[in-house]
Amino acid sequence: MKAKRLIEVAMPIKEISAESVRDKSIRQGHISTLHLWWARRPLPACRGVVFGSLVQDPLDVNCTMAFKDAVKDILYKGSMYKPYADIPYTAAVDPMEDNPRNRLMMFIGKFSDECQNNMRAEKSTAPANQLSNGSLVKWENKNNQELLRTARLLIWVSFNSERLPGCSYIDLKDSFDLAYDRILDAQKNLYSIIDRHLENDKSKRAEAELKEAIELFQSQMPTVFDPFSGGGAIPIEAARLGCMSYGNDINPVAHIIEKASAEFPQKYAKPVRYSAKEFRKLYGDKGLKIVHPGQEMFKESTIDIENRLAFDIEYYAKSIIEKTEHEIGHLYPGDSRGNKAVAYYWVRTATCSNPSCRAKIPMLKTFYLVNTSKKSVYIHPIIKGTSIEFEIQNGHYDELANHGWNNRGTVTCPCCGSVTDVETVKRESTTTGLKARLIAMISDGSNGKVYSIPDEKVRKVLEQKQEVSFVPSGNMTRNSNGGDTFPWGFTQWSQLFTNRQLFTLNKFVENLEELRDSFPENGYYKALTTYLALWLDRIILINTSFCRYNIRRETLEHMYSRQAIAMTSDYPECNPFSGSAGSALNQLSWLLDYVNGEQNNPFPAYFNNASSGERTQFPEKSIAASITDPPYYDAIAYADISDFFYVWLKRVLAPLYPLNFSTPLTPKAEECTALKHHHNGDENAANHHFENKLTQIFDAIEYQTTDIVSIMFAHQSTQAWTTLCNSILEARMNITGSWPIDTEMASRTVALSGGALESSVTVACRPSERKGFGDYKDVKKAILVKVENEVNSLYALGFRGADLLTACFGQAVSEFGKYKLVEKADGSEVTIAELLDMARTSAFNALLKGVQGDEFTRFYLGWLQMNGMGETDFDDATKFTRVGMQVDVSEIFAQRLLIRNGNKQHLATAAEHLGHTSTQGTRAEDSLIDQVHRAMLAYEKGDRHVLLALLNNVGADDQNAPFWRLVASLKELLPDGKDLKAIEGLMGNSDNLRQESREVDQHQPEQMTFDFGNDFNSDFK
Ligand SMILES: C[S@@+](CC[C@H](N)C(=O)[O-])C[C@H]1O[C@@H](n2cnc3c(N)ncnc32)[C@H](O)[C@@H]1O
Repeated sequence: MKAKRLIEVAMPIKEISAESVRDKSIRQGHISTLHLWWARRPLPACRGVVFGSLVQDPLDVNCTMAFKDAVKDILYKGSMYKPYADIPYTAAVDPMEDNPRNRLMMFIGKFSDECQNNMRAEKSTAPANQLSNGSLVKWENKNNQELLRTARLLIWVSFNSERLPGCSYIDLKDSFDLAYDRILDAQKNLYSIIDRHLENDKSKRAEAELKEAIELFQSQMPTVFDPFSGGGAIPIEAARLGCMSYGNDINPVAHIIEKASAEFPQKYAKPVRYSAKEFRKLYGDKGLKIVHPGQEMFKESTIDIENRLAFDIEYYAKSIIEKTEHEIGHLYPGDSRGNKAVAYYWVRTATCSNPSCRAKIPMLKTFYLVNTSKKSVYIHPIIKGTSIEFEIQNGHYDELANHGWNNRGTVTCPCCGSVTDVETVKRESTTTGLKARLIAMISDGSNGKVYSIPDEKVRKVLEQKQEVSFVPSGNMTRNSNGGDTFPWGFTQWSQLFTNRQLFTLNKFVENLEELRDSFPENGYYKALTTYLALWLDRIILINTSFCRYNIRRETLEHMYSRQAIAMTSDYPECNPFSGSAGSALNQLSWLLDYVNGEQNNPFPAYFNNASSGERTQFPEKSIAASITDPPYYDAIAYADISDFFYVWLKRVLAPLYPLNFSTPLTPKAEECTALKHHHNGDENAANHHFENKLTQIFDAIEYQTTDIVSIMFAHQSTQAWTTLCNSILEARMNITGSWPIDTEMASRTVALSGGALESSVTVACRPSERKGFGDYKDVKKAILVKVENEVNSLYALGFRGADLLTACFGQAVSEFGKYKLVEKADGSEVTIAELLDMARTSAFNALLKGVQGDEFTRFYLGWLQMNGMGETDFDDATKFTRVGMQVDVSEIFAQRLLIRNGNKQHLATAAEHLGHTSTQGTRAEDSLIDQVHRAMLAYEKGDRHVLLALLNNVGADDQNAPFWRLVASLKELLPDGKDLKAIEGLMGNSDNLRQESREVDQHQPEQMTFDFGNDFNSDFK
């Protein structure tokens, strides 16, 4: 029997979480900057999960001796991977035992010494310094060859010691070194050949030798497969760790992005040595300027380029910019001071509904063009009759007196004061269309951005109509949740662009097409053209009339900040030739950073553009681990929104990828999502489709996988989880581990915060033979124990809210999933939905264990533990009060413990709860939470006499009174803010307060007139 994988028993989730959150803000060289794809998983989470899914648990009785020896030999040198002595919220048990399992965890991720010290002192640490330099998942280590070699060696030993049981660690290390060094030697050999691009016998031989060395190495490493590979985050990390890495995605746009992320840089972003003659032939004097700026002629006989692919992308992209600018640059005039335009600022206009006015009202929400702490500029309107002109003003205007004229589409006419409602404006938009008016110019000055009113010359140029050769075809699809542009009449992809934008984009595309047709037909040039097409996509994305100008940051922003297109009433028209942020040159730099950042990894991943779920794609049990991140139910309509890119990519890339671009738009029918608009609005049909597809895909990977299937899932709704768990069990797998990994938490969490966290949960599943029948009574008992343990240990690690809940789902299903069928006493089958409800109840009960007090107080604490003070869906309140609580949801709202806001609600602060009454909470018979909230309000106001009287009345003069226990619990749970301050104040003054409240009782029968003096207030503040 094989040992469990590490991911089934332990993962350094706090460390991976910290780096995953940091990953969200990393830009330069990050995979997300190559091309937009929605819901990319953070790379540290992917790297950590891949590694944890591939190595054995060294404490497992079945762990091979070779792997145990490897861990001892590699990870016990020095203190780099020594587990922590004692830091809060990092281990359920402190100090962490120094054993091989924990050493392996510390290798994946360990907090740096600086961060550990800060944690003890309750201070935060800069994100880049949180993890130690030896951590596998640290961003900087994605190119750390020494560390990656170690990780690859550990995987090699773990994998091969199970395949070849007789082999010792020394044998395996020798075979690893041999195979690995062969790759290094072959690389050195190939990359030192002069003019290897000419593909002569010598270079072909060297290339074949390198290919063979890589294949030989990877054939002795585990195979990893991601059936939903999206932007390629999981396959790239599996390949980085040396594995044979495969990914499928149904979407052609994702497929192209994946190849550019995890196949092409690994194959082609490599050094090349040109003879001066060849270099000159390829790049001429222009090339010389790039490699040796300022040098007149070639002095050297050879020219070394560190990254051939990046060099060529830069060279050809710049030549496209140059040519296009030469052809149409005059359409982007500068301002009257001679500054280059960065963008032209347009506003759509609506016609005033007053028949005697009919002014064309610019739909401005604000008059600011920029408004930061250091700089503010606005447009000041000058109204004469129905004419509206503008001038530029520096400084601030009175926002209260001068509202914008556009409030959610309803416009107020600045000329006559009439209000034109949003429906009338939409009608105009859908019938005649809203005209756009050029309002301002944004240029690059010597001291930052300059704002001006465009002069007549500029206006004339910008108002010229252009002949457009190609218009992207196809209708957009309205999202199930509503597509904001549809009621405004924007329903086709072509409508997202202005005539000028289409004209310019066409010029770029035509120039790229010309280049593509001049390139030799081989893999390298196919890759090069692919990057140039992705670069054009970046340019296209920032050249729509749905972009925004961020007045706080003075930046242009594209329309896909959400996973849908929002209607905009004003937009910056980018000048692609400005060279500033947003321009074609700037878009190029993002792409190059990525290609340069991935050049050291020799292992490509391999991608298939197909719907997953085909059993025959891989032989039975030929994949060691399937690691994936399925679509989150109905959260993102991948195919619908990616059509925006598809229609343009198809134009440039269809000749190179004929099969991938054979359909007019992206394929929708087989997409594994629960989108009701793909099923005639039928939600049930959409859910069925999702579950069936997911089950089919899980069934295939269960058939193909030997060891582990790790699934990342970020959706928190019970319905989505029910579907996921059903599909896992239907596919004969069972959950054996589940880990919440934060991706959105604020960095302060690492500095000891109890705040609610946002996470995705990774469940590790084992392809398993499920046993016979289970008795619900026994299964339930086992689940209660498991869930309680899980709640306690995750709570100790600082996890709260939905993370706790979903991790408990995993635990509950793991017990349930041991059986083919679990039956109740009456013979009926227990469903997953019932099971998850039960897991939720057990989790709540485990959380509330030990909490004394009335039901309202228990509710308040339970909710706070689960959801914090943030907004949650209304549905959650109903579920919460149904489980383990005696109170009715209507009473909760009547008591103002929850505050409803549309279909959301949040837990009431003390002021929201009791601010409207004056006596509730002052009596002994009142709910405990009322008493504490009343005391907090009295404390905040400095109302000492009310406070002391209250403490006395409710019997809080004893330190063991339930009142003080609740205060202590709230101190642990409340997030930063007014309420926490009040609680801390009460706790800090508790000795005095108790003492004085007793004195009130003895000497001051008329408590409410007691005089507290000034010193009490100063204690409080
Ligand atoms: C959550 S995303 C994966 C994101 C990816 N892990 C990343 O980091 O970029 C899910 C992906 O599944 C793909 N998908 C949906 N249905 C599919 C199917 N039937 N077969 C293969 N891929 C599918 C979508 O196109 C989408 O890219």
